[in-house]
Amino acid sequence: MDAMKDMISMAISLHVIFIVITAVLAIFSYIFINSDRDFRGFSNRVESISLQYYFMLAGLFFTGLVVFGATGLEITWQVVMMISALIWIIFSSVKLHMLFKMTRQRDIESQKRFKVYAKRKYLIDLVLILLISVIMYAISL
Ligand code: HEM
Repeated sequence: MDAMKDMISMAISLHVIFIVITAVLAIFSYIFINSDRDFRGFSNRVESISLQYYFMLAGLFFTGLVVFGATGLEITWQVVMMISALIWIIFSSVKLHMLFKMTRQRDIESQKRFKVYAKRKYLIDLVLILLISVIMYAISL
């Protein structure tokens, strides 16, 4: 059973690496969205960072799924909590993308709407990730 144990611990390590990268990207997104720059530079940056964000969310999901499968598909409240948080993060990312598509170079109002939602979203993402990590490590102490 050593190979199984190795696989679980590797999947958990990867899970944690994705958690850290996702949290760092959320911080960068928050900072970029706060910084004032011309519309084109701003939108290029937002587009490229959200693509990376999607990759990290996918990584987080698949590594979580591997750990979930390898530990016997047991649906605990921790798993429900993590999946719910991830679903929220994905839905709010989709909504943010829709708001982004509605922004126009000359329409300052639409850019403002996007920025307000983006700031709130990345802050909530970050709080969720940190909170879940604290809870997960606190119960395993
Ligand atoms: C917001 C997204 C998520 C965060 C912040 C998160 C965070 C964590 C943390 C901090 C751990 C503990 C790692 C360790 O023991 O070193 C963990 C373990 C785990 N995660 Fe996630 N996770 C997320 C999403 C998911 C998803 C989508 C799944 C899918 C099923 C999942 C399944 C698991 C499982 C099964 C474990 C092992 C549970 C245990 O040891 O009791 N996670 N996660």
